[in-house]
Amino acid sequence: MAVITVSEDERDLIAAIREIAEERVAPRAAEIDHTGEFPWDMKELLAHHDILAMPFPEEYGGLGSSELAITMAIEELSRCCATTGLLLAVQQLGSMPILLAGNEKQKRTYFPRLASGEWLAAFGLTEAGSGSDAAAMKTVAVRQGDKYILNGSKRFITNGGLAQVNTVFAITDREKGTRGISAFIVEKEYPGFSVGHVEDKMGIKGSQTAELIFQDCEVPAENLIGEEGQGFKIAMMTLDRTRIGIGAQALGIAQGALELAISYAKQRVQFGHPIADNQGIQFMLADMATKVEAARLLVYNAAAMVDRGEKNFSKYSSMAKMFASDAAMEVTNDAIQILGGYGYMKEYPAERMMRDAKITQIYEGTNQIQRLVIARSLLAE
Ligand code: CAA
Repeated sequence: MAVITVSEDERDLIAAIREIAEERVAPRAAEIDHTGEFPWDMKELLAHHDILAMPFPEEYGGLGSSELAITMAIEELSRCCATTGLLLAVQQLGSMPILLAGNEKQKRTYFPRLASGEWLAAFGLTEAGSGSDAAAMKTVAVRQGDKYILNGSKRFITNGGLAQVNTVFAITDREKGTRGISAFIVEKEYPGFSVGHVEDKMGIKGSQTAELIFQDCEVPAENLIGEEGQGFKIAMMTLDRTRIGIGAQALGIAQGALELAISYAKQRVQFGHPIADNQGIQFMLADMATKVEAARLLVYNAAAMVDRGEKNFSKYSSMAKMFASDAAMEVTNDAIQILGGYGYMKEYPAERMMRDAKITQIYEGTNQIQRLVIARSLLAE
């Protein structure tokens, strides 16, 4: 493939990440899934190799990587372990509101320690009663002198309770609807901030998903991101960017499952010959590879649009996320089918890949929401 290219330096970086993923990440994937414990060693590994620094500008200690390089890095990591790929994707997601709308002081305060991996980031938008309908949130922020007082809770937050830096969305003016929502940086140690229920999930089991609780939580007024009332737009602009990363995660999972299915089909002998000799298996592999390649083109294209500074990439980012995650579900399901009984067992990674793939159809906006975004954009053109 490749109608889209990256610089030679970035190509070298991605090759190095592939090697790290194969040698250091892949051997840990089954255990991370089995224990469900947050993989601090993987976080350290990504920090050590400056992979977590990729989304941050160089002047704040980051690598200032292109969106395409970040996308490829998430893909390579997820090809071996989707939970580890998510570490990079969420470091970008939780920091994106600051990158897009934060001021100089906020960037200088938070980015160096996020880029080094000393701190993790989280994105607090979803609530128990507001998932797809993000604007239906109930968390409120009331200005009191040089502070905002936050009350409410956020649900299903990736890195919840582990992240030092939480970008949180809350209502500052109920009368104004989506224009009355504001974005804040909430540090883990702020008075009134606590962590509630930690979820037990189907897949990406090493990633911590938790509830964030704000009880008269005191947030310095200087932690407002952008201006009051800009929060909803900042959240939408963030998701436009980071949905590409979820597409990349799905793409990596699908690529991993395809490779597994090919290698199994070549060595599994039934009726006296490898099952790869059967046209039924060959046709499945051909369909799987075509879906992976189509997903790759959509994901890389959306990332390249960001890098070219194109403004209207929202539709393409939704298409990439939607198509790649559906492809990941189909390809992992077919991989299990090709592996037969072994595919259903935990002895092989195919079933983990399918469980991990499922969330990519759901988080950062369900694929039904992606269709809504795409259709609204088409009709407005
Ligand atoms: N960029 C900039 N502004 C945007 C925008 C975008 N992409 N999309 C909407 N807006 C603006 C609109 O222009 C409008 O502004 P004005 O008031 O100035 O006209 C305002 O935002 C409201 O827009 P809508 O009327 O379109 O808003 P809506 O209530 O109909 O919602 C939605 C739109 C697309 C459905 C949105 O609610 C949505 O994206 N929902 C899904 C939420 C989501 O993805 N959650 C994921 C949580 S994070 C997560 O999952 C992370 C993880 O664990 C890893």
